[in-house]
Amino acid sequence: MPYGVHAPMDSVQPARPDAPRDPGPRQTRLQKLPRRHDTVLARSDARNPQVCCVGFVSDTDIKTPRGRVSPLSGRLGSRPVIDEPINIADFERVAAEKLEAGVLGYFAGGACDEVTLRDNVEGWQRWRLRPRMLVDVSAVETSAQVLGAEVSMPILVAPVAYQRLADSEGEVGMARAAAAAGTVMCLSTLATARPSEVAAEAPAGRRWFQLYCFNDKAVTRALMDEAIESGFEAIVVTVDAPPGGRRERDLRTGFKIPEGLGVPSVQAALGVDREVTIEETFSLMDPALSWSDIEDLASDCSVPVLVKGVLTAEDAVLAVEHAAAGIVVSNHGGRQLDCVLASADALPEVVDAVEGRAAVLVDGGVRHGTDVAIALALGADAVLVGRPALWGLAAAGEEGARRVLELLRDELELALALCGCTSPAELSRAHVQRAPGASVYSV
Ligand code: FNR
Repeated sequence: MPYGVHAPMDSVQPARPDAPRDPGPRQTRLQKLPRRHDTVLARSDARNPQVCCVGFVSDTDIKTPRGRVSPLSGRLGSRPVIDEPINIADFERVAAEKLEAGVLGYFAGGACDEVTLRDNVEGWQRWRLRPRMLVDVSAVETSAQVLGAEVSMPILVAPVAYQRLADSEGEVGMARAAAAAGTVMCLSTLATARPSEVAAEAPAGRRWFQLYCFNDKAVTRALMDEAIESGFEAIVVTVDAPPGGRRERDLRTGFKIPEGLGVPSVQAALGVDREVTIEETFSLMDPALSWSDIEDLASDCSVPVLVKGVLTAEDAVLAVEHAAAGIVVSNHGGRQLDCVLASADALPEVVDAVEGRAAVLVDGGVRHGTDVAIALALGADAVLVGRPALWGLAAAGEEGARRVLELLRDELELALALCGCTSPAELSRAHVQRAPGASVYSV
């Protein structure tokens, strides 16, 4: 078995005959393989007990297969637990071990009972790919066009607030990672770095700006202007907040954004010297925002305007009618209204309603290249990832975020080849169907 293979739990033998089959999360068993004399490290996945991560590590050498000790390695006592993260779940575990409980809850959590948070991940698994065989896939490329510009892969970085909670470089590190991976980073209004700072510190990359709209239109305008003047290529207006969702994990841990982490873009747009808190920022946002405001904003904006947070065909049509260049099918990663449709379930009706009149992107629960392939087959132009990139950033800073993006790109490339496609553009509805037993939507 090669390094880093996912195996069903059943295929991993307990270390001792009397050992329980499932040790639960964060427990590790070692087993000698008779043929290879390698040590197998097996560790159950807390969220998916059917799956465990397996890697080979020699008894005496904790170096990686490339001959260096991985900065991402975990250990159990003096023994390495797993050599390097080989999937997003591994990155999440490494991040979870590094982050303080309140911060972890803020990043990982969703609204209320987290029905939608879980459903976002499971939603992609309610679809099945329909691969085609005997297609020449000797040359497969992952590059794609999004809003008329090329990206190395149709996988973008979603706007995520307060990234300096994950790593001291925060959004600047994330922007550099996205640039190195050849894709777009979308910077949040609630970022811990201003658009101008990100542009100066990570000049190579392509960037979009996520906008919250304020009661005072001059504040909204100032935010947009700074981003556009700093070279940001699109404005993504988030419409599923405010108000903020009820995040029970934060209530339980008592988590509050620490003093010293303000919202510098809003501070600048307000023209004040003091730190602006998240509570003040939310209190200044416009809860009466309407579709005509979106049209006004789009008609007075020199870059494309996308609407993020659409989950229905009805709103998708309204977005197109009110001049949106793109729609992001999103439920804010399950953090706003709980019990809404998973993004994977909402995507087809939005694609059908838009009829090619605007770009359709989707985020929420994308954890594998196969999820990306399913989204593209259902008609999305691209996906965005929020937590996966964040777990990379928390695990190993800029390098970690870059490796997450490269991992997803590699997985997409493999999925394309195995589907019989040489590029993302070749994926179509013919490549996807509802999983047997899944009932929400059929194509
Ligand atoms: C977010 N998201 C988000 N969206 C937005 O428009 N503005 C924001 O400031 C934030 N902030 C934010 C913070 C954190 C901690 C998370 C996890 C998410 C939502 C984000 O853009 C995206 O929609 C989801 O993260 C996608 O789901 P996954 O990929 O995290 O499952």
